[in-house]
Amino acid sequence: VRQPLVVPSVLPADFAELGNQVRELCAAGVDRIQWDVMDGVFVPNLTFGPDVIAAARPHSAVDFEAHLMVVNPDELLWRYVDAGCELVIVHAEACTHLHRTLARIRDLGARSGVALNPHTPANVVEHVLAETDLVLAMTVNPGFGGQAYIPAVEPKVAQLRRMIDASGLPVELEVDGGINAKTIRTASAAGADVFISGSGLYAHPDGKAAAVRELRAAAI
Ligand code: DX5
Repeated sequence: VRQPLVVPSVLPADFAELGNQVRELCAAGVDRIQWDVMDGVFVPNLTFGPDVIAAARPHSAVDFEAHLMVVNPDELLWRYVDAGCELVIVHAEACTHLHRTLARIRDLGARSGVALNPHTPANVVEHVLAETDLVLAMTVNPGFGGQAYIPAVEPKVAQLRRMIDASGLPVELEVDGGINAKTIRTASAAGADVFISGSGLYAHPDGKAAAVRELRAAAI
């Protein structure tokens, strides 16, 4: 059985201290760091571009994943790989040619990922499992941190778990949105093995390392 991975979203970080924040997350024992890239069109919020990620890259000992919540990911893919992201996740809802976009990410030398908003059915990824290294089932409607987890997504997580296992492919199954020590339990039971946490991790009273330990323990 795959070990659960705990991956913080940088969204709640103090952007005035980004290098220190990244070093702190690495010291806390996170498995990767996720950058929520938002263009203000695909989602109502606007966050950071590749230059910010590139500036933070030398301060991290763990891989970066870029979660592209943008309307036109194809034009941007190379910028996020150049900025140092080892994994680039695009939204199925933003890709007219998802199969080609995922192949392009791998051609650029990064691992590929596809994200599904809460309303998007699991079968959207049925024919691209061989092209993707990760499927992300959003457990909130993307755009902002601190939202409530949507349990109604759990049956889709379970369906994705069945699809991935039936394919025999090493595809990671990630959930993102409202993940904390409580919600991670049912998300993990549904079949997720990579957990994104923003506010749940940053708000932990005993600090980030304790949060990571608690999340990892709750996921098993
Ligand atoms: C939401 C982002 C999530 C979010 C997670 O649009 O994609 O990654 O930052 O934050 P929490 O864990 O606070 O829901």
